[in-house]
Amino acid sequence: MTTTPPRPAVEIRDLHKSFGPLEVLKGIDFEVGHGEVVCVIGPSGSGKSTLLRCVNLLEEPTAGKIWVNGIEMTDPDVEIDAVRRGIGMVFQSFNLFPHLTVLDNLTIAQRRVLRRGRAEAERVARDNLERVGLTDKADAFPAQLSGGQQQRVAIARSLSMDAQADALRPSRPPRSIRNWSATCSPSCASLPRTA
Ligand SMILES: Nc1ncnc2c1ncn2[C@@H]1O[C@H](COP(=O)(O)OP(=O)(O)OP(=O)(O)O)[C@@H](O)[C@H]1O
Ligand SMILES: [Mg+2]
Repeated sequence: MTTTPPRPAVEIRDLHKSFGPLEVLKGIDFEVGHGEVVCVIGPSGSGKSTLLRCVNLLEEPTAGKIWVNGIEMTDPDVEIDAVRRGIGMVFQSFNLFPHLTVLDNLTIAQRRVLRRGRAEAERVARDNLERVGLTDKADAFPAQLSGGQQQRVAIARSLSMDAQADALRPSRPPRSIRNWSATCSPSCASLPRTA
């Protein structure tokens, strides 16, 4: 007698995801077995959360196929709400103002609380954005950033408010900030509850 082996908890085949011109996922293939624990490790902004968000279609893949417990998530006829009920997810969140750009998130309290002028507040903000490696994200909104990038914006916002530390701090950011992009960001996990 032959028995069909159970399908993996998660199967991903040739998954692609782009945000405009930015191609984040470039043909991902992997499987997660039932009961298996998998850590996705990579630099900040490399696509870990995008990958997990694609699994339950919080992000719509640009191309590729995904199955969860044998159900094809990328099938246009899938009952997505029913399948999502079996998937748990912990989100990253850093309480940035969602309607303000990164630069405005960094300047608003400087201007209102510290009474800095716009030019000075922006100079401080851009200086701190550079320190956390996010110069190119000044005009982005928080929802357009990765979790770790939002975390770094929150750090830059905090640095922008501390005038005393501003005077004392070294000319380079602490090692822990500079190395952020080279460390694991185990802050987001998505596994089927039945796994
Ligand atoms: N909605 C969006 N619009 C535009 N770009 C986006 C959007 N969401 C994510 N990105 C970009 O896609 C890239 C991957 O983001 P993602 O959140 O997957 O990174 P991550 O690997 O989870 O990073 P981290 O470790 O910092 O959480 C980043 O460059 C990010 O700026
Ligand atoms: Mg992330």
